[in-house]
Amino acid sequence: MKIAQKLKKWFEREQRDLPWRRTRDPYAIWLSEIMLQQTRVTAVIPYYERFLAKYPTFVALAEAPEAELLAAWAGLGYYSRARNLQKAARAMAEAGEFPPTYEGIRALAGVGEYTAGAVASIAFGLPEVGIDGNVIRVLSRVTGGMAGLKEVAEREMDVRDPGTYQQALMELGATVCAPKKPRCLLCPLATDCKALELGIVETLPVRKAAAATIEEEKTLLWIEREGSVLVWQRGKESKRLAGFWELPELGMVEGVELGEWIGAFGHSIVNHRYRYTLRRGRIDGEAPEGFRWVGDKGMETLAASTAFRKSLRIVTQKNKSI
Ligand code: ADE
Repeated sequence: MKIAQKLKKWFEREQRDLPWRRTRDPYAIWLSEIMLQQTRVTAVIPYYERFLAKYPTFVALAEAPEAELLAAWAGLGYYSRARNLQKAARAMAEAGEFPPTYEGIRALAGVGEYTAGAVASIAFGLPEVGIDGNVIRVLSRVTGGMAGLKEVAEREMDVRDPGTYQQALMELGATVCAPKKPRCLLCPLATDCKALELGIVETLPVRKAAAATIEEEKTLLWIEREGSVLVWQRGKESKRLAGFWELPELGMVEGVELGEWIGAFGHSIVNHRYRYTLRRGRIDGEAPEGFRWVGDKGMETLAASTAFRKSLRIVTQKNKSI
């Protein structure tokens, strides 16, 4: 028997009764997958039920006041998920439907490859598969290695029922093929499992070593004149934040007279941890080449980097308190 067939038989017998398995509504299935991204099944269930009762359709969610929405999400953490959820719901309301294709789902705010694959297969029966941690664990053990897991997942898929295949892979990873002490005696894929044969089940999946954190210190300059601030724009070829506007860093502008210390803040991205110091600066004459002055009005419309926005917040707070 094929792997997909064994999975399906096992899933039909052993699956947990979870609320998002009782619906075919793409909106509800999408909501469950977003909630499950960083939160455990048992924690998600009551939130999922309350949230759906409060916002039963994407139109209801699109129209929710932000404060109320965040209150409904409170306790689940990662609040950007709630904001993205509403952004996506508004796009659906605009389009008049839940996007019925993989590309359409993938384009929603907050949806990555995994979530797009899961929603496409579970809600629409499309021949896609989302690879999450559970799926990686199951497939790396079955194949005995880490290579080409996505291709394996696609090759073994039952194209007549991709939704069940997807859910069965995740369910097996969640309940049987556990990271520690897997219950191989209960596993429908035990006779297919290379890792079990070799006695290396618990050594898989191989985790990538976390990249070392790189710490960097930077001084940003707040150079203000007649209500305008000196800024520059990252070029299109910039590796990071292409097209975003920034404050000058110390060393970028010649002839700066350094002024008072304004504040300090941190900002972390991927494996970088930046410590920023914000200081006033003064220059004479015109804006140097590559820089321009921007006033309050312009500030609202330009795409400012996070470091710039954090700096602006600090200066605004300071001005308010004096
Ligand atoms: N984890 C991620 N998606 C899930 C789902 N649909 N059911 C159970 N656990 C999950």
